[in-house]
Amino acid sequence: MADPRVIVALDFTDADTAKAFVKRVTPSRCRLKVGMELFTAAGPGLVEHLAARNFDVFLDLKYHDIPTTVAHACSQAAELGVWMLNVHVLGGKRMLVAAREAIERSKHRPLLVGVTLLTSHNDDELPEIGLARGTERQVERLAGIAQDAGLNGVVCSPLEAALLRRRFGKEFVLVTPGIRQAGDAMDDQRRTRTPVDAVTEGADYLVIGRPVTRAPDPAAVLDAINREILIR
Ligand code: C5P
Repeated sequence: MADPRVIVALDFTDADTAKAFVKRVTPSRCRLKVGMELFTAAGPGLVEHLAARNFDVFLDLKYHDIPTTVAHACSQAAELGVWMLNVHVLGGKRMLVAAREAIERSKHRPLLVGVTLLTSHNDDELPEIGLARGTERQVERLAGIAQDAGLNGVVCSPLEAALLRRRFGKEFVLVTPGIRQAGDAMDDQRRTRTPVDAVTEGADYLVIGRPVTRAPDPAAVLDAINREILIR
């Protein structure tokens, strides 16, 4: 498989544990996500280590600041050789455009995706942060801002993938966490979809953490998921 759809979330607290895990998988089986927990502990050196081993890295730092600061951060991330990075759409269109333009000037040109609403928010919390109720409508609105600003796509719940795919077309990249097989532990995820269902509903990439990172044989779990997605 040259173009794996699974992005394994490296939610480890230190570089050594992350590197030990990565030895057990291959770039043909999965891409890798480095989020704020691991990045804060291990820094850019780890991202370069993974990229040097030919892994596509999704740097999940969800930038949200004034446009100039976000643009500079995106340039630095692009210099590290990441494959994908993300920003909060709530930073507004000027910030999103500044991020995209910074990436367009970079040598590597990673994919840029937006975070719409955090799935940890529920309807009742939206008025508290100044948004109208109705998470689905808010996600759709924010995804529209991301598309207008020229972002490649958004991170979304697999439950929203079908709606966003219909509304924003087949080129708009949809990245979905919240993936579990039928028998998997749910951990702290509440509303999940299986890999096959998420892909059927329009997801391009599946972010999967613990079901792979905690498995006795992570490569075998990835092989099984990749086979299932391919033959769907
Ligand atoms: O272990 P698990 O498969 O639940 O990991 C999912 C990953 O996706 C974690 O890194 C988590 O932070 C991230 N994520 C998520 N839900 C979102 C956005 C990101 O689970 N809405």
